[in-house]
Amino acid sequence: MSNLKIFSGRSNPELAKAISLKLGKKLGKRELKNFSDGEIWVKYNENIRGSDVFIVQSTNPPADNLMELLIMLDAARRASAKRITAVIPYFGYARQDRKDQPRVSITAKLVANLLVSAGADRIITMDLHAAQIQGFFDIPVDHLYSSAIFAPYFKQHRIKNLAVVSPDVGSIKLARSYAKRLGAELILIDKRRPKPNQTEVMNIIGNATNKNILIVDDLIDTGNTFINAVEALKNAGAKDIYGACTHPILSGDAAEKIAKSDIKLLYITDSVKIEKSIMKIKKIKCLSAAGLFAEAIYRCYKNKSISSLFDVYKG
Ligand code: R5P
Repeated sequence: MSNLKIFSGRSNPELAKAISLKLGKKLGKRELKNFSDGEIWVKYNENIRGSDVFIVQSTNPPADNLMELLIMLDAARRASAKRITAVIPYFGYARQDRKDQPRVSITAKLVANLLVSAGADRIITMDLHAAQIQGFFDIPVDHLYSSAIFAPYFKQHRIKNLAVVSPDVGSIKLARSYAKRLGAELILIDKRRPKPNQTEVMNIIGNATNKNILIVDDLIDTGNTFINAVEALKNAGAKDIYGACTHPILSGDAAEKIAKSDIKLLYITDSVKIEKSIMKIKKIKCLSAAGLFAEAIYRCYKNKSISSLFDVYKG
């Protein structure tokens, strides 16, 4: 696999390293620096002419993570890489995916345009905020599902009398696929957002009484959606409450709020860099996405099917 080169940006080097280790490769040599005003500079310190290049970088804030990825794509294209794949474990700016009010941006489309203009030939990502964001690209997008990591885990743990909860309408498809895989009931929470970053539970659609619960969501930012769901479900008579969240953004005091909540365990992936302080919280457990991404990169490199990955991936 000498023609396969994996490079890491600085947003989540731990995951990039774990991915390359799984593939039995070393990360490619590159230099990344900031000028004194913060401007980013990149140089590949090995020949990538004609190579199949994979650049691993999540684009969670700060926006420098996105900028760094764009600069790495541009440098790879100018260095004559044969094919450049942006491996974006967490695709940030995806929540603004439509004009839900006048005079606002569609940042998900803007970022898609930027990635293609910078030189991406292909995208590998996981649990986009909305699956249809794939259509914002006119290049191939391989969309991986974290359920390939979480569902076998929960299946193995055989939690009795389980119901899978979607904490809002947006996650209903995700929750339905978990419920199907785990043979569990499905519950929907009718959530309203009076303002950005504020949420209210209006109704629980389904019966949570005496049920063990698994709440699934693509991301936790402020934690309000999640905590409100936990409280509402407890008040409705739920027993043990677990969570599975793909992208643990955990801004502000979200991690502390989760630690203090009635949740029994929250499972996350390492799609974004996880601070040590978060890993010390006993209620939070990380299941790595490295194996899933490594397999996807390998299949991409070998021109093998990626969709079949969802059936065979065991972690
Ligand atoms: C919403 O549509 C998403 O799936 C998440 O539920 C939401 O973005 C989480 O945000 P927060 O943690 O700030 O409530």
